[in-house]
Amino acid sequence: MKAQTVYICQNCGATSARWTGRCPVCGQWDTFVEERRERAGDRTQYRSTPAQPLPLSAVGTHPLERLSTGIGELDRVTGGGFVPGSLVLVAGDPGVGKSTLLLQVCAALGSVQSLYISGEESLEQLRLRAERIRPSPSTLLVLAETELEAVCTAITQSTAAVVVIDSVQTLYSPDLESPPGSVAQVREAATRLQKLAKQRGTVIILIGHVTKEGLIAGPKVLEHIVDTVLQLEGEVPYAYRILRALKNRFGPTHELGFFEMTATGLRELPNPSALFVSRTSAGESGVAIAAVLEGTRPLLVEVQALVTPSAYAVPQRTMTGYDSRRLQMIMAVLERRLGIGLRQYDLFANIVGGLRLDDPAVDAAVALAIVSSYREHPLPADTALFGELGLTGELRPVRLPELRVNEARRLGIRRLLLPKANADAVAEVAETLELIPVDRLSLALAHLFP
Ligand code: TYD
Ligand code: MG
Repeated sequence: MKAQTVYICQNCGATSARWTGRCPVCGQWDTFVEERRERAGDRTQYRSTPAQPLPLSAVGTHPLERLSTGIGELDRVTGGGFVPGSLVLVAGDPGVGKSTLLLQVCAALGSVQSLYISGEESLEQLRLRAERIRPSPSTLLVLAETELEAVCTAITQSTAAVVVIDSVQTLYSPDLESPPGSVAQVREAATRLQKLAKQRGTVIILIGHVTKEGLIAGPKVLEHIVDTVLQLEGEVPYAYRILRALKNRFGPTHELGFFEMTATGLRELPNPSALFVSRTSAGESGVAIAAVLEGTRPLLVEVQALVTPSAYAVPQRTMTGYDSRRLQMIMAVLERRLGIGLRQYDLFANIVGGLRLDDPAVDAAVALAIVSSYREHPLPADTALFGELGLTGELRPVRLPELRVNEARRLGIRRLLLPKANADAVAEVAETLELIPVDRLSLALAHLFP
């Protein structure tokens, strides 16, 4: 017998027995999602003796137990490994390497029993993939199943400490009328699995495809239910992949892990900077090297700019890999504070390697790359820079300058231009690196284009 279901407006909570396109209460469109109707008895079972408040100081704490995966880049992103009893979502575009990564996790876990439940691929396909990767996940248990109840039973009956479900969009509960992959189904599955993970202390990892809009499966709903959201990113023409924690109840967010897709699976890249600085473009105009930070991870990246006379009434401005509004701001500062007017020019700026950066310390390198292209004059060799640009043309200090300095030195940079306010903090770690502390962009130009 089918369980009773009800449609609930995700905006205002209104209920309806049937799906409707527009909520009659709040007027929003397309907000009704099917849910299983809770029977009156379902709720009362949670009511036990009333809980007693206690002083905060009486609350015991203990360090979180973690299951290290043996994959350093992954452990870095999760904050030391998965926490038993947690529900993790690994999201990413189709084809980016999610199944490969999780198979490798199962292999790296070694003697820790893992179970891989696949609804995407047949067991044979899974076997073929597993044969490619090194080390091979030899003790892994596999199951091809999409029915939620059967999946839960399999998890309950197995002794696996880690369960991978590939993917959450293929799970299906016949109690709901909505098709697999719908918001209702995805949420039902995640809620059930969350409970199961907590009850059994199992790590349950859901693989989820990102939809065209860039949202995680069955939109944001899933993000609220799971404990951790990891996103695997990568541009198709490049082999490198970035793993990012978007949410983490048990560790840091904004920490990055770097991998490269090879013929034998994903390979860790503990030193990714080399990837984003192309030695071939040294000595060209329009190129500047920025010392940036993603999470607590320093990276040297190459910024390229091309300034060229425009054939159009409205010149083109394109920024790839960094916020285009910051590009607008940098151009405005160049025009008003330094007299470098770019109205007659098209401008293309790019972070090399397809990386997407959030660190405002890239500003200085973007500005210098633009000026370098505009003047057709290369920046001095082996020079890097960092600093956030302010509206008056000042170079503002950025966080953790010493990590940037260390990375620059490690990669053979000889001269580093940085905000004056950051200079004291890095004096000790600079060693042989020549520091050029400046507090204004105009001084940076004077130093680098004498
Ligand atoms: P896959 O893990 O199937 O991606 P997802 O699960 O995110 O959809 O990986 C897809 C791509 O990776 C596919 O184009 C083949 C490639 N690949 C390799 O290059 N090397 C390998 O060892 C494996 C297993 C896959
Ligand atoms: Mg897959």
